[in-house]
Amino acid sequence: MFHSHIIGTGSAIPKRILSNKELESLINTSDEWIVRRTGIKTRHICSKDENESSTDLALQASLKAIEMAGISADKLDMIVMGTVTPDYQFPSTGCMVQNALKANKAAAFDVSAGCSGFLYALSMVDNAIRSGNCKTALVAGVERLSSIINWQDRSTCVLLADGAGAVVVNATEENRGILSTHIRSDGKYWDLLYSSYVYGKSYRPELLESIDMKPFYLKMEGNRLFKKAIRCLSLIAQEAMETNSICSEDISLVIPHQANIRIIEGLANNLNIPMEKVYINIQKYGNTSSASIPIALDEANREGRLKKGDYVLIVSFGAGLTWASSIFQWSI
Ligand code: UT7
Repeated sequence: MFHSHIIGTGSAIPKRILSNKELESLINTSDEWIVRRTGIKTRHICSKDENESSTDLALQASLKAIEMAGISADKLDMIVMGTVTPDYQFPSTGCMVQNALKANKAAAFDVSAGCSGFLYALSMVDNAIRSGNCKTALVAGVERLSSIINWQDRSTCVLLADGAGAVVVNATEENRGILSTHIRSDGKYWDLLYSSYVYGKSYRPELLESIDMKPFYLKMEGNRLFKKAIRCLSLIAQEAMETNSICSEDISLVIPHQANIRIIEGLANNLNIPMEKVYINIQKYGNTSSASIPIALDEANREGRLKKGDYVLIVSFGAGLTWASSIFQWSI
């Protein structure tokens, strides 16, 4: 029986910083509102004249994770990317990155699971490693949400941003590393957060007509999502702790999806975990969907917030709806 453990982390953030002050000059909003209601102060946005496509960002994050792991890319058996903003409808960003890495042995593909894309990808890789089908894998989350945002819709454009994060996961025969992954979805609520970008026209055009959106623009019902987010995140975090007979005091660090500081505070409160044990970088990066957890994980790792043997809880929630959790013992 194999277990999987993370042996390298990396992230890539676009150069261009977009501040709340700048947004004030574009739409009817204020720095005060954005900080108070979301916790976001700045976000990073891809530029056309930089090498900042989804593939570019995923590649940069992956190279850093591979370097930390101390492996060569031809050792990878799998490359799985969580993304809702691939450069092409097909082929997958996974295949684009595989080509750039010359990871010739790897099976590569994308996972579309909204903001839970990274955790869904991690769950698949963990299962592949446990079953003996894979020894070493690259798991990443990458988004270029700036390309599907309606920059006149103040209820979404102040929240969403771009970035990428990646981890290298390796098989071990020791009983450590990733202890569990849980993934869940409920398609009944698909229209709380969606974009019809992939189809080029709206699946339900009547939903879009009223708000003067281009067909591919992202649409969100923030209020209803907010309540569901706290509930789903809390339940799946509790499920993860129960599965592993771990209580909240045992958790050294929680790395939640960075959608809204008030969602994160609600989660911490429900789990009875003090905010000092919760990793937060939403103030710098906003909501980068499936990239948010691997970016935060990489930063926490490089800042020395993770010690060997620490129990780390990661939880995500997003479009689909999807939500997911994982508990692992840190082993770098
Ligand atoms: O990534 C995973 C999925 N995403 C989420 O889970 C996001 C969940 N939702 C949220 O984070 C929050 O619901 C938002 C940040 C999106 C919105 O915050 P809120 O406190 O729920 O605000 P609201 O939608 O209830 O709006 C309150 C007021 C409204 O004005 P009125 O109708 O009361 O006059 C909005 O029009 O705030 C207004 N508003 C804004 N004002 C200034 C909405 N966006 C803005 C803005 N600047 N950017």
